[in-house]
Amino acid sequence: MLIDLTGKTAIVTGAGRGIGRVIARTLAAEGVTVALLDIRNDLLDEARAEWAKAGHKGLFVKADVRDKASVTAAVAEIHKGLGRIDILVNNAGVAAGARIEALDEAVWDDNFDTNTKGTFLVAQAVAPIMKAQKSGRIINAASFAIIIPSIGSAAYAASKAAVVSFTRVLAGELGPFNVTVNCYSPGMIPTEMNGYAAMPEARQNRLLDTLTLRRWGEPGDVAKLICFLASDLSAYITGAMIDVSGGKFATQIPAVAYE
Ligand SMILES: NC(=O)c1ccc[n+]([C@@H]2O[C@H](COP(=O)([O-])OP(=O)(O)OC[C@H]3O[C@@H](n4cnc5c(N)ncnc54)[C@H](O)[C@@H]3O)[C@@H](O)[C@H]2O)c1
Repeated sequence: MLIDLTGKTAIVTGAGRGIGRVIARTLAAEGVTVALLDIRNDLLDEARAEWAKAGHKGLFVKADVRDKASVTAAVAEIHKGLGRIDILVNNAGVAAGARIEALDEAVWDDNFDTNTKGTFLVAQAVAPIMKAQKSGRIINAASFAIIIPSIGSAAYAASKAAVVSFTRVLAGELGPFNVTVNCYSPGMIPTEMNGYAAMPEARQNRLLDTLTLRRWGEPGDVAKLICFLASDLSAYITGAMIDVSGGKFATQIPAVAYE
């Protein structure tokens, strides 16, 4: 049994760097024409150069997922350029935070505007296209923070918890149109968002001790899940949240198994 995504089209938001870039790259390597959407032109320029070198087809679109006009224009441009939209990966996200007394209202708003409203706005723009096609896959980035949140992550965890409920409602609304909607929760994947790899060793070990598979996640671990969720093999999975965290806290103290 093979995953076959050849000839499909996708939008990946926040595809300029980090996990999003690897998701876009992995889909492209599987024969998908990917529209990479990001708020930063410099990252899109880097991606464009990478795509040209690899010989991948793609579109590079600057847009701010927090802004409805920007999202509407971007999705219209992508639809015109690609002809159809088979897959939407709502990956763009931010994660700033602080403990409650120090948590700025602006930081709270940015978490909700990017992670929650951004997911809503892009899905809202793409939904009519997928409904008309009578097929589609919407895949939203949640986070392990929706399972067990961290101290200082109130805005981020709450904004991502909302993504899970949003995913389920959208799955219900789009089910009759053969559009599946799922979300996934990465655990700890070193990127510029979190700086795990730059932490002192003792701190890294404390975090790694929470994992059943005692290693940092890799963006490719998420990208492989996305390929499955985007494919025909996942046709009967919708409204689901999939934990891709290496079994974080699958048991109370996973490190015991390593002693
Ligand atoms: N890295 C992890 O361990 C981890 C864990 C759980 C969940 N996640 C989620 O995975 C996703 C990707 O995380 P990452 O670690 O690759 O982050 P990252 O910060 O490396 O990348 C995020 C990308 O989103 C883009 N972006 C930010 N705001 C945007 C906006 N308003 N409009 C368009 N693009 C915007 C950024 O420019 C960047 O390219 C996020 O949703 C994050 O919450 C990551």
